[in-house]
Amino acid sequence: MGSTIDFTEPPLQELQHRHLLGLSTYSAAEIQLILKTAREFREVLERPIRRVPTLRGVTVANMFFEPSTRTRISFELAEKRLSAETISFSTSGSSLSKGETLLDTVRNIEAMKVDLAVIRHSSPGAAHFLSQRIGAQVINAGDGAHEHPTQALLDLFTMSEHFPDFNGLRVSIIGDMAHSRVARSNIFALTTLGAKVTICGPRTLMPAGVEELGVRLTSSLDEALNGCHVAMALRIQQERLGTSLIPSLREYNATFGLTLQHMKRHQELIVMHPGPVNRGVEIDSDVVDHERAVILNQVTNGVAVRMAVLYLLATGRA
Ligand code: CP
Repeated sequence: MGSTIDFTEPPLQELQHRHLLGLSTYSAAEIQLILKTAREFREVLERPIRRVPTLRGVTVANMFFEPSTRTRISFELAEKRLSAETISFSTSGSSLSKGETLLDTVRNIEAMKVDLAVIRHSSPGAAHFLSQRIGAQVINAGDGAHEHPTQALLDLFTMSEHFPDFNGLRVSIIGDMAHSRVARSNIFALTTLGAKVTICGPRTLMPAGVEELGVRLTSSLDEALNGCHVAMALRIQQERLGTSLIPSLREYNATFGLTLQHMKRHQELIVMHPGPVNRGVEIDSDVVDHERAVILNQVTNGVAVRMAVLYLLATGRA
């Protein structure tokens, strides 16, 4: 099972960015380079020994100031598969509770000689803020409602396993657009690659001016699913909703929840979800486990995509 990329050498093509803060500034060529490189790493992950020496000697700090299951573990595994040295930091048990600022905490970790910093934070712009103040390369692992670029990249990778071309691909993103960094990153990347994106959800959960991102807007789930290749359900983020923007979770499910009826009506449709899923809210439980729900494939692909991002950033010259 040979790979066509020599992971001990710098890549032939390079990213034009030193950091991955979001996908709004990434070109189609850069996104395609990440997806192509991830395909090679996906193959490495099927080998008996799922490890390459590419990032030996590189130190990566995973700094999670907000809860995470998938992203944190996925980055940690990706770093181990690349033979990087890793440290992981989470807010609980840290000196943040003693009054230390975010910047001082990150600078102290960086002072221990860190090359790359993977950062999740509840404030939009946190990764960008830190990238301007520390020497390490920064990867945004989700900043508030702003962007979650590696999630969108793994979503695109998973779509590419089912559909040969993004040009003309019809993707409907359903749910809470107002609080979704996943949706924003997907919209940037998908429209850059020529996909047609529809967003669907309650008007109260649509940010003002969202149409300016080049998407179609509807509050009808039937309209969103008609002719659609990929339905991406978003989590109802109860921790970010604040005052009630939807009448009830039951009503949300009745209007926007994906059901088995939808799967029967749309035989070609694949269903995605970034996780964590609220079963019975954005997706009915039997759809989560449906053969055309690719939610766990997304998680598997996340490791390969994050390996690709780490590799391209760490070995690039930007
Ligand atoms: N999709 C996602 O970001 O999941 P976690 O919050 O578990 O990392």
